Amino acid sequence: MKKILFINACVRQKSRTKRLADALLGRLTECYAHNGGSKIRELILKEEERGLKPLHESDLVRRERATEKKSFDDPEYFFAEEFSKADIIVIAAPYWDLSFPAVLKMYFEHISVNGVTFRYQENGEPEGLCRAQMLYYVMTSGGKVGSLNLGYEYVKAMARVMFGVKDTQCVGAVGLDMEGNDAEAVLKKTEEIIATMKIPSGQ
Ligand SMILES: Cc1cc2nc3c(=O)[nH]c(=O)nc-3n(C[C@H](O)[C@H](O)[C@H](O)COP(=O)(O)O)c2cc1C
Repeated sequence: MKKILFINACVRQKSRTKRLADALLGRLTECYAHNGGSKIRELILKEEERGLKPLHESDLVRRERATEKKSFDDPEYFFAEEFSKADIIVIAAPYWDLSFPAVLKMYFEHISVNGVTFRYQENGEPEGLCRAQMLYYVMTSGGKVGSLNLGYEYVKAMARVMFGVKDTQCVGAVGLDMEGNDAEAVLKKTEEIIATMKIPSGQ
């Protein structure tokens, strides 16, 4: 049974990014149905905002103590524990100001816990402690993105370098708000691509 953690950083009620994420989750569910099954846990970040405040100095002091004692029972480490144990991670985030909504950065601050999602090796380099084989990053943008897919680049680096997630993939649709573009047609086409996307069986 694959544990899929769906981190929903979409803000708008009629989010097109969420629509594509739902298509991907459907595809993953379908693929794993013949391969041990899967279970999706959705974490809706806009509903968690109060618990996801930016970290203050007092939070850092508590966290350092927890790392020293290797004791992470406190609920404030729940998100980090959950992230570290997922088999597959799906993040959905609209392209905002060249990256993503701030609540997703706050989430990353909360899951970057030395001793849970990563640890430092003797040479000072981070070693990932997460079990996920794959992280999918689902995004949509209003305009062109080109080489400035900075949200995905950040998430990819965190996942691979810090957390030890084996692989990452960006799935999405760009240019949805550009004049002359038929957003609905682009979304439908992207959903069709997702519906036949190859999902590696080991992931
Ligand atoms: C606050 C905000 C910032 C945005 N910044 C960008 C941007 O930097 N570049 C861009 O191409 N589109 C930008 N957009 C447009 C969104 O990326 C686009 O409408 C996207 O499809 C919204 O996703 P959603 O339907 O899931 O909310 C921005 C939209 C908002 C509301």
